[in-house]
Amino acid sequence: MNIMPNSAAARDIAYYIHPQTNLRRHAEVGPVIVSHGDGVYVTDENGNRYMETVAGLWCAALGFSANERIAKVAYDQMRKLGYYHTYRHTANESSIDLAEKLIQLAPVPMSKVLFQCSGSEANDTAVKLAWYYQAAMGRPDKIKIIGRERGYHGSTIASVSVSGKPDMHADFPLPLPMMRHTEYPHYYRQHRDGESEEEFATRMAEALENLILAEGPDTVAAFFAEPVMAAGGAIVPPKTYFAKMQAVLKKYDVLFIADEVVCGFGRTGSWWGSQTFDLQPDMISCAKALSAAYQPISALMVNEKIHQAMLAQSDKLGAFAHGYTHAGHPVTTAVALEVINIYEEMDIVERAQRVGGRMLSGLQALAAHPMVGDVRGVGFLAGMELMADKATRTPFEAGTAGAAADKFGRQNGLILRVIGDRLAFAPPLIITEDEVDHMLAMLSKTLDQAHAELTTA
Ligand SMILES: Cc1ncc(COP(=O)(O)O)c(C=O)c1O
Repeated sequence: MNIMPNSAAARDIAYYIHPQTNLRRHAEVGPVIVSHGDGVYVTDENGNRYMETVAGLWCAALGFSANERIAKVAYDQMRKLGYYHTYRHTANESSIDLAEKLIQLAPVPMSKVLFQCSGSEANDTAVKLAWYYQAAMGRPDKIKIIGRERGYHGSTIASVSVSGKPDMHADFPLPLPMMRHTEYPHYYRQHRDGESEEEFATRMAEALENLILAEGPDTVAAFFAEPVMAAGGAIVPPKTYFAKMQAVLKKYDVLFIADEVVCGFGRTGSWWGSQTFDLQPDMISCAKALSAAYQPISALMVNEKIHQAMLAQSDKLGAFAHGYTHAGHPVTTAVALEVINIYEEMDIVERAQRVGGRMLSGLQALAAHPMVGDVRGVGFLAGMELMADKATRTPFEAGTAGAAADKFGRQNGLILRVIGDRLAFAPPLIITEDEVDHMLAMLSKTLDQAHAELTTA
């Protein structure tokens, strides 16, 4: 790539570290600088326009356009009160309004809300509260947290430790010593010959139970799960999975934390993934679509059981010794509240079912393609497995199928999210039926081109 001196790309290479990026290679290829957005499209500084099939990082639920309504709310709030914190009995109005709204929307009875600025921080807070709760219950040794292989809960030290991503632990002294990981429910790839979805789910629940028994139930505080594993590959759980997993958690008095950072706010065809899969969590983290990514904000909801333990801790210890400077920021909370108003006006759940249903049936039609092994999804969230040989479930050589899909996708105007041998689809929730059809047509062309390249090499 020809990088002009003093250009934005040259200055990027000079000054910037990019997450999830090969830093050596970045200095050679430089950045794709996105300069503006319109609806589900983004345009780079060279004028290339792409449809974003995963809403950036699963977050831009209202797309990438300038949004006058949201901008006005932020502007008005900045003019009224640019900042005030929520420490030591202090509050600001918009964070109270948003807390109330979240409790009203919660999929199961929830009691209180804590704000943070990212999904990682919300999950870190949940880990701390699981420990705090168990300590309040007189069980200070019940500190182990169980996540799932390939689960993703964030980059901060506790959240990444619960995540089952060895690539994100490597060469950091991670995961933290009290974190454990159980199997992940990828039925298509992991099921044994002749094993039904229900039998597979039973095996997953047995693996969880065996892990809890091996560790000692008196040492296990909590279990973390995303309703649909997003960064793990857009993996929809098989039938009966969560019912069986939750029965095990109940049996051993293990808290359940639902990570709704991706699934919350309509993504799975209900307000919450917990509704889609009938979850009964003790805590729920959310972020991303909470503000449609117009502001960095996350929330953790806790049920009354957790809240009562927190009250007991205040009696014992004094203050709740935890907090973030920008948590409950008046601008971020005002924006999130307006975003939720927009979702309600749009009837985001109906839209995710109707337009998401069209996306899903179109993707499922592509399951007939020679390189597509499996397609599963709910609402506006779907995963597609790319396979060299569908009959024997044999993948292509590692990385090659995803790289080919990515390359041809870009040529066809699509930004695709490749996760190993999988493609994940989670477009902005405002995508129209015509845009879904265009995405499917360009995807079909992309798969043909990728297949031709991979099979003639
Ligand atoms: C399910 C899930 N939880 C947590 C996070 C972390 O959120 P953040 O990047 O805002 O810290 C992510 C990010 O992709 C996520 O997908």
